[in-house]
Amino acid sequence: MPDVAALRAELRERLSPARAAHAERVATTARELAALHGLCPDWAELAGLLHDWYRETSEAEILRLATGCGVLSAGVAAEQIVPAALHGPVAARLLPTRWPDIPPEVWQAVDRHTTGDAGMTNFDCLIYVADLVEPGHAYPGVRELRAAAASDLRTAARAGMEATIERLLRRGLPIDLRTVAARNALLARTHAADGLGAGGVSRGGQAADSCR
Ligand SMILES: [Fe+2]
Ligand SMILES: [Fe+2]
Repeated sequence: MPDVAALRAELRERLSPARAAHAERVATTARELAALHGLCPDWAELAGLLHDWYRETSEAEILRLATGCGVLSAGVAAEQIVPAALHGPVAARLLPTRWPDIPPEVWQAVDRHTTGDAGMTNFDCLIYVADLVEPGHAYPGVRELRAAAASDLRTAARAGMEATIERLLRRGLPIDLRTVAARNALLARTHAADGLGAGGVSRGGQAADSCR
């Protein structure tokens, strides 16, 4: 495990007080949800602290970093790029060399926390949902999402993605293709659980579901 106190101190240096407080609340919420669902609380806390490390980086800089570390490849059409969704993948590529003791499952969840991904694990869903339901949020529907998070992380993650997609549509904003793929995969998994047929959808990795 890394020096979490040092990491916290650096977080407070790096981010605005409001954003650092959000990261702390996500870490606490993730830890609580991890305990509830039999996942690793220490990993959950780390992912919560780290998930928005690059959230306040300027758009020009995040595009530069994303190109430099391979998150954005040259062939991607400009209209498919959602700059606000790049801070997770950039953190997941750039930060592991800084904290090599943090396991890859944590970085994967950081990578996927904004957009989701077609291969979401329970741990990925936990971080995705903790970001949406931390106690600083008061948007319509957050209470229902908190209740869903307490009972089933995948259902809560799908509900969060669907609400995100609806919000982006209403505001006329672009939707990251990864979010559509993530939502469809979780929907197919729900249908499989209901006996409606999964169409060969993978259950996703379970490796992050306990501390090593
Ligand atoms: Fe974020
Ligand atoms: Fe966040």
